[in-house]
Order: sequence, then C-alpha cells, then structure tokens
Amino acid sequence: MPLQALRGTTDLLGEEVKRWSVVEHTAHRIAQVYGYQELRTPLIEDASLFLRSVGETTDIIQKEMFRFEDRGGHDIALRPEGTASVVRAYLEHNLHKTDGFAKLFYLGPMFRAERPQAGRFRQFHQYGVEAIGSESPWVDVEVITLCLHILRECGLTGAVVWLSSMGCRNDQQRSAQLLRERLMKGKPKLCKECQARFEKNVFRVLDCKNPTCHEIAWRSKVSPFVLCEACAAHFDEVRRGLREASVSFDDTKIFTRGLDYYTRTVFEVRATGLGAQDAVAAGGRYDHLVEELGGPSMGAVGFAAGIERVLMAVDHGRAEAAPMANRRRGVYLAVATPSLIGEGFRFVQQLREHGVCAVMDYDGKSLKSQLREADKANCQLVAILGEAEVKQRAITLKDLEQGSQETVSFDAFVDEVSRELKTLCQR
Ligand code: HAM
Repeated sequence: MPLQALRGTTDLLGEEVKRWSVVEHTAHRIAQVYGYQELRTPLIEDASLFLRSVGETTDIIQKEMFRFEDRGGHDIALRPEGTASVVRAYLEHNLHKTDGFAKLFYLGPMFRAERPQAGRFRQFHQYGVEAIGSESPWVDVEVITLCLHILRECGLTGAVVWLSSMGCRNDQQRSAQLLRERLMKGKPKLCKECQARFEKNVFRVLDCKNPTCHEIAWRSKVSPFVLCEACAAHFDEVRRGLREASVSFDDTKIFTRGLDYYTRTVFEVRATGLGAQDAVAAGGRYDHLVEELGGPSMGAVGFAAGIERVLMAVDHGRAEAAPMANRRRGVYLAVATPSLIGEGFRFVQQLREHGVCAVMDYDGKSLKSQLREADKANCQLVAILGEAEVKQRAITLKDLEQGSQETVSFDAFVDEVSRELKTLCQR
C-alpha cells in the first residue's frame, strides 16, 4: 500500500490551496493596515522555551509536544504555538532596545500531538499577532478588533467573543488559593494527574478531560478569578474601549486558557457550527513573559487564529462567504494544430512577463479538449490561435464568464488581454 500522510496532518491541493491563500493574504494585509510587521521564526526550538512559557503542568507540555533529542543531545521541540518563539526572537534581536514597543505578525504551522478529531489536527496552522511593550488596555482593544476584522474579511460572520480577565500574578495566587478551597472536598476523587496539579498549578485541573475531574472542577458556576483594583480598572477600560470600537463581546462566560503565561485580559472567538472545537481564535495578555524569558519587565498582548478552523467556520456560513468564492482567472491559449505550439508559447510567455496567468497545452490535444481543459482550469479567457488567425495576424479571444468573443490583432493582443483580465496572477 502506498504511504499516507500521518494522522492529524493533511495535504492541501487545488482549490483548497487557493482558499488558504485568501485567508493568509487577508490576515497579512489587514495586520499591516494595523501596523504589524511580519516575523518568521524556526519551526524547531529548544524545548525549554515552551516549558518556561506555556508551563510544565499544561496539557500542551505534558502530553502534546513533539519533543526529541537531536544527535548533539539537545532537547528539541516542534513549536506547539507562536507566542513563546516571538518573544524569544524579540529578545534575541534586542528589539526591546531598538524598537521598544513592537507589533509583530506571524503565520505558519504549529504542532501538537493531540488526538485528531474534527477541527483538531497534529499539524495545524495559525496566523497571529503579538504587541510587545505596552500595558495599555487600548492595545488589548486593538488586538481584539484586528482579530475580528480579519475574520470578517475572510467571510466569517456570527462569531462571538468571550472576554474575561485572569488578573495579575498576585490575583492569580489568591484565586488559586480560593480554587483549592473550593475543590478540596472533591480532591480525593480527582485523577492522579489532577492530584499533582492541585498542588502545583490548580488552574490546570479546570482543563482536565476526565469527566469526574471536569464535574468537580466546574461544579461551582463561579469564575475562578478574583481581581485587584488595578486589574478590575484595566478590565473596565478594555470593555469601554471595545464598546467605543463597536465590538460586541460576552463577559459572562467562565472559561480558562490552557497556557500558563496569561495575566489580565483573555479572550476566545467562538464560531457556530464547529462542534466541540469551536474556538477559531484566542489570545490575551502576558505581562510577565518577556521578563520570565530574560528580558525587562514589559506588558504584551496577542492572539492566534487556527486557519483550518477559520475555513471550516466560513464554510458553515457559506452564504456570507462571498470573498472566498472561486473566481475565474487568467487565460488559456489554445492552438488549432500542434505546429502552432511554438507561436502560441511566444504569446503565453509575453503574457506571463506582464504578470498575467497564462497556460497552454504542449501535448497536441484536440482543440475541443483544450477548450474543455480551459474551462476545467477555471480560466476567464480563451485565446484561440489557428492557421486562419496566423494569416490575419490576429487571435480569437473568448470570455468564458461573459460568453462574448472578439478578434484581436497580434500587436494589440497582450495589452488587450492584460486590460480585460480583472484577476491577474497576484496570488
Ligand atoms: P491556543 O488557544 O492554544 O492559543 O490556539 C489558538 C488557536 O489555534 C485556537 O483557537 C485554534 O483555532 C487553533 N488551534 C489550537 N490547537 C489546534 C489544533 N490542535 N488543531 C487545529 N487548530 C488548533 C495559542 O496558541 C496562543 N499562542 C495564542 C496567543 C497569542 N495568546 C497570546 N498571543
């Protein structure tokens, strides 16, 4: 049997690749509009980076990280998320000294050895932003607004923002104590892992998928987070800013984030119709991470969206997905006889030099099957070159979308096609 892609990984082909490109380009373009510059980091990192940031007691580190020792005995991990790498790069390249406040955009594959299911993959793809160097609640507002702007431009409607605050580190210590007291009675029934988590990092008991632990952890319908005055005021400012930006949110939902670095604002964007894996994007503040990774003390906030889930959510609300519609593009040059392939190739090449997507057949197929191929390839125009055309030094140009036809002289051909084609090979 031929080899197959690993479980939880997928190949992207044909139309699917085009849909991905639309999301990737949209995310990049809009992030730039908000002043975020792209940064690319390696797919592999020293595993300790994630242990120190995402947190040793999280599911991501304990169960899901692809981790291996290289030949030199180094402990390496495939990145399970982007934030830690971005902060590492920010510090490594001294951006805290040169840029201070930095607004960074990233996009690429992430890896988690989770059990694959609908919307959950082992290699998945995120785009995201990190704004490093400010504690202003307005940056939280900007990041959430940007996150929703991209989703909207991708054709996603009806997504809901869950918004909460986890408070500062002092608040989290107080909250952890209160949570321990609340869970104390049920503690003997918690699984072995949660017994350890109870002492080390009680918030992680809230993530446990074991039904008994889940029931005990979530029995009380009270938020596990208490806020000091400064954090409550910060959260109020975020909510006020979002209202001013006309961004709706739901701050009544109780939820936790499965990564340890968060402080203050956290949010998740949930889409309808995705079942259990309905978070298309998520993020929040992490005001201590830069310092914990060896830098100065500075606030930071960001988000990441899962491209697979964004596309699934857009599919679900297909009616609103006009930007994802598959438009015809480019030109197919068909030749009436194989002897004209050379002549045809010259025109195709001229079009390509002008940035026009142009294709043709080199195998001497019949004109009929070339026309069929042009339609299958979703070309907008077909240019037909036959003996009669060569004699007249003109080409027949058919618009497959409009159904119209005209004859264009050799000299005017490239300009005419470039003008007529609305969709150039930009993507
Ligand atoms: P996260 O919630 O782990 O946060 O992931 C963000 C998004 O990535 C999720 O909402 C989901 O759309 C997608 N995602 C995560 N795991 C999978 C998976 N196994 N399969 C498919 N999609 C997945 C983070 O990664 C943080 N770094 C976000 C952040 C940025 N916080 C601050 N800045």
